[in-house]
Amino acid sequence: MTSMSDSLLNYRSQFPILERTNYMISNSLGAMPRGVYNAMEAYADIWANRGVCAWEERWWMLALEVGNEIGAIMNAPKDSVSVHQNVAACQAVVASCFDFTGQRNKIVYSDMNFPSVMYFWEAQRQYGARVHMVKTDDGVHVPLDRMLDAIDEQTLLVPMSHVVFRSAFINDARAIIEKAHKVGAHVVLDTFQSLGTVPVDAQALNVDFICGGVLKWLCGGPGVGYLYVRPDLGKKLEPKFTGWFAHENSFDFAIGPIRYADPPYRFMNGTSHVPALEACRPGLKIITEVGVKNIREKSKRQTARLIELADHHGWRVNTPRDPEKRGGTVSIDMPDSKNVCQELLAREIMVDWRPKAGVRFSPHFYNTDEEIDSALSAVAAILREKERAVPA
Ligand SMILES: Cc1ncc(COP(=O)(O)O)c(C=O)c1O
Repeated sequence: MTSMSDSLLNYRSQFPILERTNYMISNSLGAMPRGVYNAMEAYADIWANRGVCAWEERWWMLALEVGNEIGAIMNAPKDSVSVHQNVAACQAVVASCFDFTGQRNKIVYSDMNFPSVMYFWEAQRQYGARVHMVKTDDGVHVPLDRMLDAIDEQTLLVPMSHVVFRSAFINDARAIIEKAHKVGAHVVLDTFQSLGTVPVDAQALNVDFICGGVLKWLCGGPGVGYLYVRPDLGKKLEPKFTGWFAHENSFDFAIGPIRYADPPYRFMNGTSHVPALEACRPGLKIITEVGVKNIREKSKRQTARLIELADHHGWRVNTPRDPEKRGGTVSIDMPDSKNVCQELLAREIMVDWRPKAGVRFSPHFYNTDEEIDSALSAVAAILREKERAVPA
C-alpha cells in the first residue's frame, strides 16, 4: 500500500509532533492530539469561571464518562470501567477486594509482566500471598503450558499482560481465563500494550478484571489508568482501598464504615484526577473514530515490514514472527543497540530501548511506510558510521 492510499494518514495533521519527528514510540507515549490544547483551556476556563460549581456541572461525572469512553473501546458494558492514576493503583484496588490468609492465596504471573505489576504482587507476600512466577525461556514468549499448569485450585488471581511490553508477544488470554475459571481463580488482564492497537473484547473474553492506561496506544497522555470489573463481580466485591468517591452517597459525609456505591464509583477511592481525565478525551475520540480493527490491520502490515527490513540487515528480532501473536511493537536487537537508540533519538527518530529487548519500534495508525523505511535506513547508517569510527 502506498501512503497515498492509506486513509488513516488523514489523521496525521491532528498530531503536531509528526510535523517535526519520525514518531515511532506509541508503545511508550502516544503522540498528543492537537485537541488537547482546547481541552486544557476549557479545563482552566471552567475552574477559573465556575470554581467549585465545576464539580456539579462537569467534574463529578467525568470519571464515569471517561470510563465509558474507554469501556466502549473494549466492548465493556456501560458503567463497568472506573478510572485511576495508573496500573499499580488498579492492582491495589483489585488486591484489596481479596483476602490472602486462606488456602486460596496463590498469585500466578509471568516474569514478562510489567514491573509495576510484579513489584506490587511480590510486595503482597507479607500479607499472605504466595507468588508463583512463570519464567520465559527466550525472553519473547510466555510458555502457555507452564502458565496453565501453574493455575490450580489454590490460585486466587492471575495478573497477566495481554501484550508483553518487551517483545509484543500476545498472551493467549482466552486459554488462561478458561483455565482460571475452571479452578475458581480470577484473571487481571493488563491491556496497556493492547487496547488501541490490538482488539480487546471484555465480554467475549469473559475476563474478571481488565486494567491499563491511556498514554500509549490510546494517545491519552499520562495520569489515567482504567479498571474494568465484570458486572457480576462489580456488584459484590468490596474494595478495602476505598474513599469518599466510592460511597453510595458521598455528600452525606457519613461517619463510620463505607456503604458502597454501584460500579464504577464503587472501585474508585479519593478525589478524581480531573485534568488528566480532560486531557485524555481527544485521543480516545480519535481512536474510537479510526477504529481498532483498522489500526490492527495497518499495524500487522507495518510490523511485518519492520521485521522484513531487520532480517534483510541480519539484526536479531525479539518479537514473534506470527502476526497473530504479535502486538504493535517490533523489538530489534542490532549490534550496540543501546547506543544506536541514543543516536536515533538525536536524529529525531523517536524510539526507545529496553534491556533484553533492544530498540522498540512502534508505528501507529499515523505513521507512513516511508517513516519505517527511513528509521531502519538510519540504523544502518549509524552502524556504518560506528564501524568507520573504530580505529584500525
Ligand atoms: C504492560 C504494561 N503495564 C503497565 C505499565 C505501566 O504501569 P503503571 O501504570 O503502573 O505505571 C506499562 C508501561 O508503562 C506496560 O507496558
